[in-house]
Amino acid sequence: MRFLPVPVCMQWALLASAAADVPYQEYILAPTTRVLSPVSIYQTGGDVQNAAALLHPIGAGAQSNWSTTFSGNGSYVTLDFGKNIAGGVSFHVDAVSGGSDSIGFTFSESSMYISAQHCDAVQDGAFDLPQWFNNTTPGHYEAGHEFQRGAFRYLTVVHNSTEAISISNVTVYWAASPEMANPAAYTGYFHSDNDKLNRVWYAGAYTNQICSADPTTGVALGAPFAGWYYNYTVSNGGKRDRVVWPGDIVISGPSIFVSTNSLEPIRNAIDSLFLYQKVDGRLPAAGYPLAQLFAWSFTYHCHTLNDVYDYYMFSGDIDYLRSLWEQYKLGVNYPLQFIDSSGLANVTTISDWGRGGMSGHNIEANSILFHTLQNALKLAAIMNDTSESSRWELSAAGIPIAADNLLWDESVSLYRDNDTIAYGSPATSYPQDGNSWAVIAGIANGTRAAAISDALKARWIRPYGAPAVEANDGDTISPFATGFELRAHFMAGHPDSALDLMEFMWADYMLDDPLMRMAGLLPRHHCSHSMLGA
Ligand SMILES: *[C@@H]1O[C@H](CO)[C@@H](O)[C@H](O)[C@H]1NC(C)=O
Ligand SMILES: *[C@@H]1O[C@H](CO)[C@@H](O)[C@H](O)[C@H]1NC(C)=O
Ligand SMILES: *[C@@H]1O[C@H](CO)[C@@H](O)[C@H](O)[C@H]1NC(C)=O
Ligand SMILES: *[C@@H]1O[C@H](CO)[C@@H](O)[C@H](O)[C@H]1NC(C)=O
Ligand SMILES: *[C@@H]1O[C@H](CO)[C@@H](O)[C@H](O)[C@H]1NC(C)=O
Ligand SMILES: *[C@@H]1O[C@H](CO)[C@@H](O)[C@H](O)[C@H]1NC(C)=O
Ligand SMILES: *[C@@H]1O[C@H](CO)[C@@H](O)[C@H](O)[C@H]1NC(C)=O
Ligand SMILES: *[C@@H]1O[C@H](CO)[C@@H](O)[C@H](O)[C@H]1NC(C)=O
Ligand SMILES: *[C@@H]1O[C@H](CO)[C@@H](O)[C@H](O)[C@H]1NC(C)=O
Ligand SMILES: *[C@@H]1O[C@H](CO)[C@@H](O)[C@H](O)[C@H]1NC(C)=O
Repeated sequence: MRFLPVPVCMQWALLASAAADVPYQEYILAPTTRVLSPVSIYQTGGDVQNAAALLHPIGAGAQSNWSTTFSGNGSYVTLDFGKNIAGGVSFHVDAVSGGSDSIGFTFSESSMYISAQHCDAVQDGAFDLPQWFNNTTPGHYEAGHEFQRGAFRYLTVVHNSTEAISISNVTVYWAASPEMANPAAYTGYFHSDNDKLNRVWYAGAYTNQICSADPTTGVALGAPFAGWYYNYTVSNGGKRDRVVWPGDIVISGPSIFVSTNSLEPIRNAIDSLFLYQKVDGRLPAAGYPLAQLFAWSFTYHCHTLNDVYDYYMFSGDIDYLRSLWEQYKLGVNYPLQFIDSSGLANVTTISDWGRGGMSGHNIEANSILFHTLQNALKLAAIMNDTSESSRWELSAAGIPIAADNLLWDESVSLYRDNDTIAYGSPATSYPQDGNSWAVIAGIANGTRAAAISDALKARWIRPYGAPAVEANDGDTISPFATGFELRAHFMAGHPDSALDLMEFMWADYMLDDPLMRMAGLLPRHHCSHSMLGA
């Protein structure tokens, strides 16, 4: 397996000479041009004539008859773009029988949610109504700025009147990663003799791309499900679910650095979090508009600090680090007040990713804090500012010892979630996230890390993946939490376990299983969670 980072100058040379020379381009899912046409018709309903014409990006009149005619109420065509895409619709109205007519579009990532009545939802638990173009007459139409839709694979053209309307040239402007002139022009490449790993790597890189959006098209909180629109300014950069989440960047940041090296959205996302820092040092759990509601999460606070560390390590941008340094130090110091006489932090907020029971002397939170302090010490040395370093060293020093004393359960070779539960408790009391982070942070190393790796592996649920037992129903498969488990297997000296897990969970299940194929490219929730770390 090799990483082939291509120096910028060489990359320009490649682009200048021939795009066809881009290494491993057969794996790159990003389009080279932003105007996309559907690749197939998934289904039609009602009275539709010449549906196949919608597969051609040619306007009416270019060849014999490239119009598709929808007659009567409830006629529709579902177009398949072959993979998840993101952006806005445009089309041409060629003729209408009654002078003017309406035509609508619904969007869906999964074939399970294709509907002529509604879209899959921007927010969980409800559906969005179609995007309607009403009273159209012959001419060109395109979606406004606030109708740039997040990821979808299926686009259903809906007709809801007794008239007949003929349309053509339905295309989607791929609006993701607006900062890239050519979305397929990667600066880093991965290749191995394992086709599954190659496909997983490029699927991850592409998912990150469709998670980078024009920041002025963020989710507008409280937007009605009918008449949805995306026109909220979430930051100077954003993501597919249109909210900045610092925990996701722990996964997506390193992946972006090694694929597109598109650093701007990451820096913008970090800025949007520090902008809302409280004077006591607390950072918001998510970017705005959620930051305005200000939930504080112990773990997401630390994730933001670690995003800064990663950003600096990959960019070398010392001026940027200097600009955040005082705020960063304030941020590192804030959680230290929760470290009690046990040596562990006693977490008093429940906010975290989709797990339950985030409080008390929690192994995940303490491992992430330990990792944060190690990173902070490294950055302090780089900044020539060790004013806080002895405090940070002292705080960190007690964590592995206390975790060993209070949380390690030798009988199962795993840490308990917290010290309110008994040794030898049900498996759900030994979290995937906390045990993975204990290895990543170096709280567990050597033979203990190897034992944790084996114990986590013993819980795998083939053919699906590694369970996040701490999530609410105990058998959730989370690409987010499992991304950390993968790192733990590597760090424990078990790369074979990591490769096995990547193959069956990310390739066989998430990319190739019919159940997941229905969901387009990658699972619907946990957008950037789907990525492998670098
Ligand atoms: C194109 O075909 C549609 C239905 O197939 C028909 O209604 C329309 O009149 C045709 N247009 C032209 C210009 O032939
Ligand atoms: C089809 O639509 C695309 C996107 O709006 C546009 O660029 C192109 O010119 C259209 N083609 C014709 C023949 O109208
Ligand atoms: C179609 O139009 C009717 C009447 O205007 C309306 O009640 C119905 O909700 C519409 N269907 C959709 C999918 O918008
Ligand atoms: C647009 O047309 C659709 C379908 O007939 C209808 O449900 C919707 O209410 C209309 N919207 C407006 C703003 O008239
Ligand atoms: C179209 O059909 C739907 C469902 O059958 C109905 O609710 C709606 O009123 C109809 N719209 C028109 C304009 O006839
Ligand atoms: C967003 O769009 C909605 C609906 O068009 C509008 O009411 C609102 O004022 C817009 N907000 C901004 C910030 O443009
Ligand atoms: C301790 O862990 C258990 C098992 O995961 C969990 O149910 C409980 O809520 C946790 N306690 C606290 C205080 O978070
Ligand atoms: C953590 O702190 C809370 C609030 O001060 C307290 O009620 C709780 O008992 C503490 N938990 C532990 C395990 O010390
Ligand atoms: C830290 O000090 C070294 C040695 O004096 C210097 O080269 C470096 O630029 C300093 N770093 C910063 C961030 O000021
Ligand atoms: C392993 O972990 C223990 C306990 O945290 C620590 O004392 C030791 O230095 C670590 N060893 C290495 C090689 O990191």
